[in-house]
Formats: sequence, C-alpha cells, structure tokens
Amino acid sequence: MGAQAHGVLGRYRRYFKPGNALVEIGCGSDSTPALYEIARETGQTFYACDPKHPEVADLGQGRDDFVYVDRKGEDFLAHDFEATGQRISAAYLDNFDWMWNPARFRNENKPKFLVEMVAEYGQAGEELCNVNSSIAHLEQSILVDRYAADPCAILFDDTWFEYAHEVYLGKGSAAVIYLLSRGWRVADELDMHGLATMVVKGIERGG
Ligand SMILES: C[S@@+](CC[C@H](N)C(=O)[O-])C[C@H]1O[C@@H](n2cnc3c(N)ncnc32)[C@H](O)[C@@H]1O
Repeated sequence: MGAQAHGVLGRYRRYFKPGNALVEIGCGSDSTPALYEIARETGQTFYACDPKHPEVADLGQGRDDFVYVDRKGEDFLAHDFEATGQRISAAYLDNFDWMWNPARFRNENKPKFLVEMVAEYGQAGEELCNVNSSIAHLEQSILVDRYAADPCAILFDDTWFEYAHEVYLGKGSAAVIYLLSRGWRVADELDMHGLATMVVKGIERGG
C-alpha cells in the first residue's frame, strides 16, 4: 500500500511540536520524499532508517534536519536515539517485508521477486517470514513508545484488522496489540485506509 499510506501522517501535523523527530523505518522513493517534506514543514528532524537505501540521503544534502541511518531501525532506536535528546512525534513503520500468501510461496509458485527477496534476507542472516516481520515492527514500536512525545502517531503499513477473526494481521500485528495494551488507540481512519493502521496516543477521537 506504501504509495498512499504515508500521506495519512500529514493529517496529524498540527500535533508535531517543532524540535521533535519524525522516524521512518523502511525507506523508498514513494514514502521518503513525502515524509521528509512533512517533517521539514513541521520543524521535525527526519530520521530515515534503512541500510539498503543509502540514496535517500541525497534528499537531505546540506541540511541538518535530515539524518540517514545506515542500520536497522530497531538498532538505531535501541542504541543511538537517546543521545539525540529528542522525542518522537511520529513514526512510519514499513520495513521487514510481509510475505503475502506464504503457504503458496513455500509449496508451489515461487515468484522470482520473492525468491530473490528470501535470498537477500538470508544473506543478512535473517529469515523472511511473517513472524519475523511482526517481531521487527514490535521491537521498533516498544522503542518508539519509550521515546514518544505526547501526542504521538505511528503509522503501520501493510497492517489491517481481519474482521473474520477479529485480530490484527500484517507487519504491525503484534505491535498494534502491544501499543493498545500501553494505552494507545487505533485512530478513526482505519476503515478508510484498509491496509495501513494508525495508532495514536494523546490525540482525542476526531481530534
Ligand atoms: C516495503 S519496503 C519500504 C518501502 C518504502 N516505505 C516506500 O514506500 O517507498 C521495505 C524496506 O524495509 C527495509 N528493511 C527491512 N528490515 C528493516 C529493518 N529492520 N530496519 C530498517 N529497514 C528495514 C528493506 O531494506 C526495504 O527497503
């Protein structure tokens, strides 16, 4: 869904206090330029975390409000973020890939792009599977929660409420539950945006 989902964060810009941080984990030409624009307009420092997309650093050439992070988002948040002294106004989490139709992938048709992606994750010592995608987003969310400003908004791409079983599925499936247990809430626009889920704290319904 990436192409449209990240834009939803812009609707929360009035809650972003200047001097705070907007963190993107999982970068690309769709989301990173648009999110940096939102960060710039609202006076946030933008942290773009993705070891595989060094080219996004060009967006912030000569500017000190753009920081390219050449490591996994959870490692950056665990080891480096505290030293910034900042709080996080917003995060866009769209990283460790979610595998659609994994059973089919494993048993029959193996699309070439997926075979390559599995090999790429394997080279980095990781197994591409949905539990690992969910764990990565959970680990990141625990740390975003630790450094969150109040208010704060986190948008998870490829994350949806599965009505048939009344559970969350996708990249943020474990993270959304964790954040709900910590007093965050799923924002109203969930239904309108289907495959992306916005979780907020300190923002009233309709706020
Ligand atoms: C779906 S793509 C991101 C697309 C991007 N948000 C866009 O809309 O243009 C997923 C990206 O997550 C990155 N990634 C995977 N695991 C990561 C992690 N733990 N931390 C940071 N990036 C990660 C991959 O390198 C890949 O570039």
